[in-house]
Amino acid sequence: MKIVIADDDPIALELLKESLLADGHEVEAAENGRHALEMIQNGKARVLISDWEMPEMNGPELCRRVRAASDLSRYVFIILLTGRTSKSDVIEGLRAGADDFLSKPFDPVELQVRLGVADRITLLETRDLMIFCMAKLAESRDTDTGSHLERVRMYCRLLAEHLMSLAKFQGAPHMVDRDFVKMIYQTSPLHDIGKVGIPDAILLKSDRLTYAEYEVMKSHTLIGAETLGAALREFPNAKFLAMAREIAMSHHEKWDGSGYPQGLAGDDIPLAARVTALADVYDALRSERVYKSALSHEKAKEIIMGGSGRHFDPDIVAAFLANEGRFEAIATALADRVDVNMERMAA
Ligand SMILES: [Fe+2]
Ligand SMILES: [Fe+2]
Repeated sequence: MKIVIADDDPIALELLKESLLADGHEVEAAENGRHALEMIQNGKARVLISDWEMPEMNGPELCRRVRAASDLSRYVFIILLTGRTSKSDVIEGLRAGADDFLSKPFDPVELQVRLGVADRITLLETRDLMIFCMAKLAESRDTDTGSHLERVRMYCRLLAEHLMSLAKFQGAPHMVDRDFVKMIYQTSPLHDIGKVGIPDAILLKSDRLTYAEYEVMKSHTLIGAETLGAALREFPNAKFLAMAREIAMSHHEKWDGSGYPQGLAGDDIPLAARVTALADVYDALRSERVYKSALSHEKAKEIIMGGSGRHFDPDIVAAFLANEGRFEAIATALADRVDVNMERMAA
């Protein structure tokens, strides 16, 4: 994490800095509150650890200034470092905008634990906002029918819940737990987010794509992975971004290695992408397009079964078959009223 620390005692400042650097954090050190505020405003720190008593601007005043800084687009988690432990001091610190306290002299283990809290809080705040914005962006370039993304995420959740019940997916290398189920529900709508980078002339073309155009269309997988990869570099602990990236990159891979963009096969294809692939194809088969009518559940099921071990992971096809009634129910409940003018050929 990027952390700004502030303390007017140079020895205390150095000790704290060393401890944070040893834990792999990036640290900027300020000898007073005013300098720390500048660092927060001009940098990218997400955490501030500040001493209470400092010349020029003390800890509580620094907290108030950070909270009042309207130009800060991110939440800064503030830990006040202090020997003050009375109730009135705690109240004053919290009122000023501190999130947590660390007693002075600090204990390195306690420091680590408090930073763990900071990491969780800042990530939570960022995550929901980020997913919401990205899903909106994905939707704006989605060429499939109205509720496609909503249906795909529901199919993904059904499949993942089924996998979670199987012994094979209860440990490495492909652990499916509650977190996985929740994350695939949140991130599968981002599978085609890379279409933001595909020119309209290709994305919206109603005629069949030429070979060269199809190659450009295929690059939506790489563009999506690159976009999410950039976010992941900023938040390396964000597991949902790692999953979203895998799905964007690999949802057109096929079990037998004949897919794109990397031609991965079998278990080399990330599990979340294998799940999304089936959900996405089932929905495409069940939906009307300018060039085809919607298929019945039975016909779509036949095609999916025919793709087992070729296009799809056989375990995921089995999960689909075990839940086919629910798939059909979702397809019916969330069916689109099709406006063929809105239909476009999808990759
Ligand atoms: Fe796609
Ligand atoms: Fe899709």
